[in-house]
Amino acid sequence: APDLPLDMIIFGGGGDLSARKLLPALYMAHLHGNLPGDTRIIAIGRKDWTREQYLAFMDEHSRPFVEKDALDSQAWDKFLALFEYVRIDIGAAGDYSRLCATARRNALRVFYLATSPELFTAICDNLSACGLCDDRARVVLEKPLGHDLESAKAINAAVGRHFEESQIYRIDHYLGKETVQNLMVLRFGNAIFGPLWQAPYIKSVQITVAETVGVGSRAGFYDQTGALRDMVQNHLLQLLCIVAMEPPVSLDPDAVRDEKLKVLRSLRRMTVADIARDTVRAQYTAGAVDGEPVKGYLEEDNVPAGSGTETFVALRAHINNWRWANVPFFLRTGKRLPKRHSEIVIEFADMPFSIFPSGPRNYGNRLVIQLQPEESIQLQMLAKEPGSGMHMLPVNLNLDLQQAIHGRRAEAYERLLIDVIRGRLTHFMRRDEVEAAWAWVEPVIAGWKELGDRPRNYTAGTYGPAASSALMARENMSWAEEA
Ligand code: BG6
Repeated sequence: APDLPLDMIIFGGGGDLSARKLLPALYMAHLHGNLPGDTRIIAIGRKDWTREQYLAFMDEHSRPFVEKDALDSQAWDKFLALFEYVRIDIGAAGDYSRLCATARRNALRVFYLATSPELFTAICDNLSACGLCDDRARVVLEKPLGHDLESAKAINAAVGRHFEESQIYRIDHYLGKETVQNLMVLRFGNAIFGPLWQAPYIKSVQITVAETVGVGSRAGFYDQTGALRDMVQNHLLQLLCIVAMEPPVSLDPDAVRDEKLKVLRSLRRMTVADIARDTVRAQYTAGAVDGEPVKGYLEEDNVPAGSGTETFVALRAHINNWRWANVPFFLRTGKRLPKRHSEIVIEFADMPFSIFPSGPRNYGNRLVIQLQPEESIQLQMLAKEPGSGMHMLPVNLNLDLQQAIHGRRAEAYERLLIDVIRGRLTHFMRRDEVEAAWAWVEPVIAGWKELGDRPRNYTAGTYGPAASSALMARENMSWAEEA
């Protein structure tokens, strides 16, 4: 119920994710009046801090991540007034009595687990033991949800012992992005695309999530993880699901998630031969991004000597169903690429025949959906060049969504936190979705191991190794920026 008081309880309250994303998102929700009137935020950490020390931590590490225009000292102070700090050593059952004494029985209790997933089981067991997991409780699980299928299942089972599926919010923050939600409107709110959105009218789909950042200070986590687990298993596959799913019967959480699950289950499982041919795995070496020299992955702090972890993946996936038979889905993501951008490119079929004497013959219109940094939709088409003769040139039909529709675009975490508070599950992953995604990714990891390859190298500031372009060139296709 919207009127219940709220206790937002953040495990990992002193961590990086809390500082950079969660606390600024909660501040924005507070600023815009989206938190219930009676809200408390209880940060849980392992450090022996007083409340004042925690607030000082927020001032130093979190405040700088609040959007400049939104920062108002008075509002920030009011926000800080909502906080409590409770020290808990996650494994120490006795420590939870301190939380029990603080958390309110009459409140909606949201447990946000922003810790490493190995701790999820212990946290839920201990919360349950002190009676905090009743039907007023919800739990939010941060990714990564496990390291492979088995560990993901173990986490899901452990959390499921204490919470109903309807109380569990598995976050994939890409589902909270305005633009990703807009993709649903593009597909299911506009009749013109419906009939064309399938084979053979679509020739291929590209999904790129390119980042300029390197591994930063996260090597401890990242080196154990790599780009396939960190990005493809969740964010890229979720984007693929939204592009490929059948129209859901409604926006009900399970109606949407049923359709996404069907896509994940239809992904063609890769054999070792497919993996050798259709995947590219690479690691950045020293180079320059935005004109600044940057280190190679192996020179970054805390990366073990000779690490074989990939920071770039490109692959070709297939969805075995009627709509998508024989349409390749090219997925690509990497760190230290030339620019930060996420986009989806729908390439339509070639013209069956050209009556024009000049101009491109194998031409397929492209719908380019740019998700970030700018939100735009472009339709690439051919038009006549002015003058005598019938010469054709590619041009863009261009929609800049920021220009077209004004309004504040909240960050993903803010939107998702509000969804949790209001009990809206549509943009969260269901247990079977996470497991189906792992079931597809796991053979790729195993295949790479079997093939025993070291990742290829690519120079920081480029779009990955040549093999990534070759993956497309083999089929007379190219990544959007090479077209
Ligand atoms: C996270 C990954 O899930 O997503 C990070 O762990 C990555 O490695 C980040 O940098 C990218 O998110 P965004 O919103 O900046 O595209």
